[in-house]
Amino acid sequence: MNTLLFTVAAYLIGSMSFAVVVSKLFGLGDPRTYGSKNPGATNVLRSGNKAAAAVTLLGDGFKGWLAVWLAQKYGAQYGIDDTGIALVCLAVFLGHLWPVFFRFVGGKGVATMFGVLLGINPWLGLATLVTWAVIAYAFRYSSLAALIASIFAPFFYALMEGADVILLAIVIMSALLIYRHAKNIGNLLAGKESRIGSKKNDHK
Ligand code: G3P
Repeated sequence: MNTLLFTVAAYLIGSMSFAVVVSKLFGLGDPRTYGSKNPGATNVLRSGNKAAAAVTLLGDGFKGWLAVWLAQKYGAQYGIDDTGIALVCLAVFLGHLWPVFFRFVGGKGVATMFGVLLGINPWLGLATLVTWAVIAYAFRYSSLAALIASIFAPFFYALMEGADVILLAIVIMSALLIYRHAKNIGNLLAGKESRIGSKKNDHK
């Protein structure tokens, strides 16, 4: 029962779409109507407002971290074990992808997955972030960086912690993140993906 409560709370935390709320606060319009139409930091950046994109990134990352941190800090006294933590990781991520507060139209999960990984183990989050940054710097594609970082994440976890139920949750998150990037993968293969720094009208 407690595991269910923590899992539902994590899903509700994940359902808070910072891209939509922050864009509204900054008067930028709805990110679901321009660029890639994805409610995420990369697309908010296409509005040209770097501060809004940064707040979106931090907000979406923070909620992933918060859900895991709450489950780790307070879960033990309510009998939340590793399976419960794994469910919380998945639930906050699923909330971001399919948010109950936004008609289930959510983002692709990159920032939230980083937050979850930082919550599980700061070194895991850092290693994945560095992977993202290296690929993003080298190729200027946010999506490619996210795809490669998400593929590396389970290996980083396995090296640090071994194989357990949390590794399974990370593999599922990576698979869902890749699935949500189907259009980006098509664009990358066709040479049509927009690079970091391009504006909303440049996006194909
Ligand atoms: O954060 C999501 C990113 O990997 C791709 O976003 O807007 O280019 O589809 P976008």
